Amino acid sequence: MEVILAEKYGFCFGVKRAIKITEKIAQNNPNTLTLGPLIHNPLEINRLQQNFGVRVQEDINNLGDSKSVIIRTHGITKQNLEALQTKGVSITDATCPFVTKPQQIVEKMSNEGYHIVIFGDSNHPEVRSVMSYSSTMPIVVSNIESLQQIKKIPKKIAIVSQTTKQIEQFLQIVQYLVSHAMEVRVFNTICNATFENQEATRILSQKADIMIIVGGKTSSNTKQLFYIAQNHCKDSYLVEDENDIEETWFKDKKVCGISAGASTPNWVIKNVENMIKSIVSKIK
Ligand code: F3S
Repeated sequence: MEVILAEKYGFCFGVKRAIKITEKIAQNNPNTLTLGPLIHNPLEINRLQQNFGVRVQEDINNLGDSKSVIIRTHGITKQNLEALQTKGVSITDATCPFVTKPQQIVEKMSNEGYHIVIFGDSNHPEVRSVMSYSSTMPIVVSNIESLQQIKKIPKKIAIVSQTTKQIEQFLQIVQYLVSHAMEVRVFNTICNATFENQEATRILSQKADIMIIVGGKTSSNTKQLFYIAQNHCKDSYLVEDENDIEETWFKDKKVCGISAGASTPNWVIKNVENMIKSIVSKIK
């Protein structure tokens, strides 16, 4: 069996940047914490805790004696940021610039009287942070079906997307809005890193007969890669690390493709690749 890595996979610019910022801050501030997990990968979060003592805290009112707080790549809500600024702690913003952009667009457009529509998952921390910048309650839809159920579409709309969504679905939603509203301002806030990883996964999954997607199971962009792989290769599996892999998956397979989400560290991907290669050598 041949084992092929996707042309593009793994850590994106925003995640690399956030980890670099965190390591640097934590080296000089032993009691540093992040508000929510810095990225959606529990293995990397563990590494930051073990090597740099970085703790994760969800509750802004429970910072303990920490004087150094880092804002996660997905951002936090405007209200939490304002509250944090009153706590007398040093704040380092590791929000990905591709997330800061839709926050700014939403704030500006809602102040100009546009009703905000966000294509994304309302429970995702990035979407919650972007929503919080709107001066009125935004409409959040995760697919065209939920948009079609809305009885009254506002007249003036500005739409943004969660960074990790697929462009085809975003365009479907935009098309529906254009035919139901008077004015629609469209901001394509889908990030290129996501797109490149998705495209490489799509191409590889067309020639593979088994696809392994490596990443955190709560990571939105990892799940997107998994759905894309599944579309073209029915034997697709999402694994967090090499321990999730089962030998029986590889029986009679000829080509195994590997791809990984934007928050998956290289050392995890390498462990998975090595595990697969050792299974292959046993099957031979
Ligand atoms: Fe940022 Fe895109 Fe990565 S939004 S965190 S560069 S997937």
